[in-house]
Parts: sequence; structure tokens; C-alpha cells
Amino acid sequence: MMKFKLKVPATSANLGPGFDFLGVGLDIYNEYLFEENKDNQIKLVGFSVEVSDNYVLKGYKAVFEYLNLPTPSVTITEVKRDIPVARGMGSSSAALACGIIAGNKMAGNKLSNAERDRLAVKLEGHPDNIIPCLHGDLVTTVVNDNELIIEKLEVRSDLSFILFIPKYKVKTIEARNALPKSYSLSDVTSNASRVILMPKAFLDGDIEVLKKIMVDKVHEPYRLKLIKEYDIIKNALKDEYCTFNISGSGPTMISITNRKNEEKIKKIVEDLHLDIDILITSRGFGASIIE
Ligand code: HSE
Repeated sequence: MMKFKLKVPATSANLGPGFDFLGVGLDIYNEYLFEENKDNQIKLVGFSVEVSDNYVLKGYKAVFEYLNLPTPSVTITEVKRDIPVARGMGSSSAALACGIIAGNKMAGNKLSNAERDRLAVKLEGHPDNIIPCLHGDLVTTVVNDNELIIEKLEVRSDLSFILFIPKYKVKTIEARNALPKSYSLSDVTSNASRVILMPKAFLDGDIEVLKKIMVDKVHEPYRLKLIKEYDIIKNALKDEYCTFNISGSGPTMISITNRKNEEKIKKIVEDLHLDIDILITSRGFGASIIE
């Protein structure tokens, strides 16, 4: 009987001007245990989310539907949950990725990595959480008809990612509905001209450059109204050595700085006495089977 444990990272999508294609793995993980059973049913143990909303199960079942095989009975236990739900830190992608990897292992790894990635993006709808979740580090994805072009860049370990996590949830669907149907040429040019500079600035760890280029005109201006702390924190950090953006579709906000500066940035925001959690983290590795 197969038995294994999986570890899946949180991710921050829409990185800077990379709406819907650029994301980064974070050093925050959920863990799930999969145990094949003979009870002829799928059992979920210790989950903090509703079964109807269970993305681990959705990912697991999708593999067998894709392969046109019966779904094996399994007991799935949520061993550790460090990724907050519906906060813009990729919790549903992490769960889907976990289900897909586990399903593929149970199916004897019949899916190639390229097929796995395509299935993952099809289920999630956009690649900027789920592909960094599967691959780790900084990843850009081009969806080219049925093919994905994926480019990964290892993130320096001296870069700090500071997360400002409100206590309320924002559903991705609500945040997507806040977006306009069309954009001005200058807004599109602003994002495109900046995103091309992201890999070099990340490789150099140049926060001054990152601060200038991690400016978004495609989603942030329309979503900031859903996040009441956005303007307050942005203003407090405007002259600091750090970036500031919405993480994914929010409400979490993210600053990138370097190790030396992280405590200063945290203290500035702590002193605002907002009802948020503040978490300092670094690059995360892709989803993996750990034992
Ligand atoms: N790119 C997606 C969006 C990320 O902004 O809708 C959702 O986490």
C-alpha cells in the first residue's frame, strides 16, 4: 500500500508588473499525508476547509479523470497548514498542486511534468500561483495555446519577502470582477517595459531598481479599494528601501527588501497598529514528496 507525505509552498502571484504570469514560491508550507486504503472510499482527515471546497481532492481526482483511470481509494490527512486561506498567498493552488502530484504518484507517474503543469493551469485558470508552487523560486509562464513556456530563476537567499496579512478574506473571483475590460496603451506599456527588467534586478538583488519597476497599472489600482490597509502601509513605506505590492489578488500585501533591512520595515508597519499579521520569509522550493 502506498504511503507518502507532500510539502507544498505558499506563492505570491502577480509579482510587480507580472499580472497573471509572474509568481514566486515562498518559504511557507502545507503538508499532507496520502495513504492508500482498502475501504473503497476517499477519506479526508484534519482538514480546515469544507470538503466541497477541497482543492487537494479536486487535483487528485483530476489526474485520474485525465488518464481515464478509476480513482484509487486514499486517506488524505492535512498534517500542517501554514498557508492562510483566501489571503493572496496561493492556498488553493498549493492544495491543487498537492492533489495532482499525489494523484500522479499513485498512477505510477504516468503524467510527464509538462502534462502535469498543463493540467494544473487548466484547473486553476491562471499560472502565476500554481506553476511557482510546482517549480519553486521565481517563475514566469507563457500560455501558448496548449503549450506552456516556463522559465524559472533561482531567487537569492538574501532577499526578504515581508507579508502583511489582513484578518479578512478576499475571494479571487471578487478581485477579478474588480478589473476593467480594457486598458490604455500607456498602462500596458508601463507594465511591459518594467517586467522585462525583473530577472536582472532579482539576480542583482537591487532593491532600488526593483522599487522602480515593481509598479503595476493592470490590477492594483482597481483592487486597492478591497484592501483597507493598502494606502496606509504604502504611504508608510514610500521612502524605504523596499518594494510594495498586493500579493496575488490580495488582501495580503508584500514588500521585498534585503535581510539587513527586514526588521526595520517590519517595525515601521508594526508601529501603525493595524489589525494584520506580519511575516518575514524568503524564497520557497517547489512542491515535493518528502517521505
Ligand atoms: N493572477 C491571479 C489574479 C492570482 O490576480 O486573479 C490570484 O491569486
